Amino acid sequence: MSDTVLERRTATGEIVVEARELTRYYEVGGGLFGGKGVVKALDGVSFSLEAGKTLAVVGESGCGKSTLARLVTMIEPPSAGELLIDGIPVTQSTPELRRKMQIVFQNPYGSLNPRQKIGAILEEPLVINTQDDAQTRRRKASEMMERVGLRAEHYERYPHMFSGGQRQRIAIARALMLNPKILILDEPVSALDVSIQAQVLNILMDLQAELGLAYLFISHDLSVVRHLADDIMVMYLGKPVETGPSEEVFNTPRHPYTAALLSATPVADPFHEKHRIRLEGELPSPLDPPKGCAFNPRCWRADDTCRAEQPPLFDLGLQCHACFHPLPLPEPGT
Ligand SMILES: Nc1ncnc2c1ncn2[C@@H]1O[C@H](COP(=O)(O)OP(=O)(O)OP(=O)(O)O)[C@@H](O)[C@H]1O
Ligand SMILES: [Mg+2]
Repeated sequence: MSDTVLERRTATGEIVVEARELTRYYEVGGGLFGGKGVVKALDGVSFSLEAGKTLAVVGESGCGKSTLARLVTMIEPPSAGELLIDGIPVTQSTPELRRKMQIVFQNPYGSLNPRQKIGAILEEPLVINTQDDAQTRRRKASEMMERVGLRAEHYERYPHMFSGGQRQRIAIARALMLNPKILILDEPVSALDVSIQAQVLNILMDLQAELGLAYLFISHDLSVVRHLADDIMVMYLGKPVETGPSEEVFNTPRHPYTAALLSATPVADPFHEKHRIRLEGELPSPLDPPKGCAFNPRCWRADDTCRAEQPPLFDLGLQCHACFHPLPLPEPGT
């Protein structure tokens, strides 16, 4: 283990996470109505994540975002598919692999031990995983606190003495103590006030630029990921429906679901007239997904083909979509 907590560990262009058809099914049953079934929480998700880049995973509640986070962080094994961390196929979670990958959850209060002081919280990963002596641990913890904008006197304080934004800084600092390459951020700012969200997002962007961290950034809110994502994966009922570079997905969404999500987020440019698409109906149950395209019952472009057949993810180069009737690309020059 190196002597400093703040060290760049990756080269540009290096693929640090690769997921191939990652799948997670849950058997459920014996509930109120007795019947057994299978929830396809994640149903074949592939992506690759480069060092220093951010892949944002967006979609409504229940589409499988946290399930993906649990698989990628090896908290749970996949039912099928392959996961490579740093080019190495993961068949079991080892301490070395776990160290490369850390997760930050939505609710920092739930993940911080209320009886531990901040100093002890930050030093715990070092106690467990390194031979660092007390003095070195304290120095590293203090360095990290400063890096995320906490003050030296915070070392002796307990989590309840902090605001939500500060607690999330503590959770981020803790995640970085073992110098990981990859952070999985599962709705890291969703529980925070909008004014505080930007501060935490800025810290995350600074840390990424400085340390070359790769982020898998999970959010139900597209406006949160707009300024921070390099690539976007939009999910619906356990499957990606649109993937591509952030610019393209925001500017020319092809899948109607992406367009609907975008139309529900505020626009920065008030002169840019916005055509609002209203998403009808609820997300269907993953226990009983609709036949054909899972989005068809809510889609204004759906026809008989969409009701009968499941569209594959059409690979069109950088931007891919799973739709038989994608939104047209704008005419050149318009
Ligand atoms: N352990 C489990 N057993 C059974 N079903 C599960 C389990 N974990 C998740 N699910 C189901 O899998 C689907 C995906 O859940 P997941 O938590 O991944 O969604 P999510 O996109 O993170 O949602 P949210 O935005 O609400 O956090 C949901 O239908 C959920 O009920
Ligand atoms: Mg979730």
